[in-house]
Amino acid sequence: MSASFTLVDHPLIQHKLTILRRTDTPTALFRQLLREIAFVLGCEVTKDLPLGEIEIDTPLERGFFPYLDGKKLCFVSILRAGNGLIDGLLDLVPSARVGHIGMYRDPETLHPVQYYFKTPAALEERLVVMVDPMLATANTAIAAATRLKEKGARKMKFMCLLAAPEGVAAFSKAHPDIPIVCAALDRELNDHGYILPGLGDAGDRMYGTKD
Ligand code: URA
Repeated sequence: MSASFTLVDHPLIQHKLTILRRTDTPTALFRQLLREIAFVLGCEVTKDLPLGEIEIDTPLERGFFPYLDGKKLCFVSILRAGNGLIDGLLDLVPSARVGHIGMYRDPETLHPVQYYFKTPAALEERLVVMVDPMLATANTAIAAATRLKEKGARKMKFMCLLAAPEGVAAFSKAHPDIPIVCAALDRELNDHGYILPGLGDAGDRMYGTKD
């Protein structure tokens, strides 16, 4: 199976993304824009959710109408920056379940080490959407997807704001079955694994933690 990569280049997303990239964008506005972009990206991510039909009464007639079928979908935030996208996704799908995965990079081996993992039950019956604003080296995203598969996830997607070509290549090679939905594909990674031109450290920018 080959990986799919979808760029959502809606003008409103591109406009909001430019404001996000600006150094002088304040924290509160950064968070608000992330939420708004997540809502629109979420529409793309959820466009193939299975629909059934239910029979209802409108004020004028009884009839069959489309209705979401199956188990509630699950958004999984890759901590901590993934949390910036969750509120926008929950605005769109308020009944979704939410999981969290925390990983840090071991300074010796440079491999991701899991420190937190909490997801809803029955992942195998849900669409599982991993979210992280930045797909940079993809090391964490690859490890998180592997862990979710070990826990039963079968149908998965990965949603991000910005991706580096290196990250897309690495993630697609490791998980060719997981489509990527993204707002922009940037030029490259720098020597510290940051995306260029990028927007800096997404976590620091959304929580105001850069000294
Ligand atoms: N994580 C970030 O927050 N920013 C990058 O540019 C790369 C990874």
